[in-house]
Amino acid sequence: MTRITALGHHQPQHVLTNDDLAATVDTNDAWIRQRTGIVTRRIARDETVTDLAATAAGKALAASGLDPADIGLVTVATCSAMERVPSIAAQVARRLGIPSPVAFDLNNGCAGFTTALATADHSVRAGAARHALVIGAEKMSDVVDWTDRSSCILLGDGAGAAVISADDTADGTDGIGPVVWGSDPTRGDTVLLNDAWQPHFTQQGQAVFRWATTELAPKARAACERAGVAPADLGGVVTHQANLRIVESLVRRLGAPDAVVATDVTESGNTSAASVPLALAKLVERREIPSGAPVLLFAFGGGLSWAGQVVRCP
Ligand code: UT7
Repeated sequence: MTRITALGHHQPQHVLTNDDLAATVDTNDAWIRQRTGIVTRRIARDETVTDLAATAAGKALAASGLDPADIGLVTVATCSAMERVPSIAAQVARRLGIPSPVAFDLNNGCAGFTTALATADHSVRAGAARHALVIGAEKMSDVVDWTDRSSCILLGDGAGAAVISADDTADGTDGIGPVVWGSDPTRGDTVLLNDAWQPHFTQQGQAVFRWATTELAPKARAACERAGVAPADLGGVVTHQANLRIVESLVRRLGAPDAVVATDVTESGNTSAASVPLALAKLVERREIPSGAPVLLFAFGGGLSWAGQVVRCP
């Protein structure tokens, strides 16, 4: 089996408040807080997606105590990176001195990190690598239409990373649980990031909101079932940080009253594929989730797609 052995996170310095946004588009702090729960988001001025990814990954690697040469797989979940080749993962590997990993980027929108985590988990279980670095990194500020109040208030920049390792001694129930994932391609035009010349993000916000609050709880519950963990026994729930109302609705429908629930959206906004590892790494760093407790990761978004699994954290 495999387990998460270390985590890292990184966000740019610059804080953009709701009042800052109200100075440039027709919005206000009360509307944003009430409809989304967002209070601030971080915006990268000089840093690239690679910078964000490499910093978070470097922290996770240092915390793992591994030598860079131990890492056999590096993957970066991102949908905002402007560079295609070399991949962001290959650039991260070069910066961290990881000599010869398979390195690739993975795009599954906001569900990217949990999809990448499952992909890396399967690779390690299959013996294709013993240790892997899984990163979610986004610079959504590059793809935001800053004149569109319905979306520019939502998004932020950041990165989170996890080192996962094969563990031959464990019994199979306390590592990374089976993934529950899928998509509804017929609703693929609900979230778009698709202009080849100047990518920019648009979405049918209400449709995504309805989908997330009515159709996703059973899928999250299925991830718990596949891991053999009752939702009521979860120590933590880290969903994609799209909107505080969605987070609260999902957790309520899931039935995890005692779990520590990630609400990083309030300070970071929606950081797409970075949101789950960022929120998870912060909770673990602050020791809000006890070591070894079962934590449901569940991400969803453009595609429309979802991916989630129960993990135990260091
Ligand atoms: O990460 C990818 C997945 N995405 C999501 O999960 C997003 C899911 N959707 C949402 O989180 C919410 O739908 C939004 C936060 C995007 C929007 O909230 P809403 O409660 O669904 O608002 P709405 O779109 O129904 O708009 C309500 C009103 C409209 O005005 P009228 O037509 O009622 O006069 C909008 O024009 O609010 C207006 N509005 C705003 N007002 C002030 C829209 N954006 C703003 C704004 N400030 N920033």
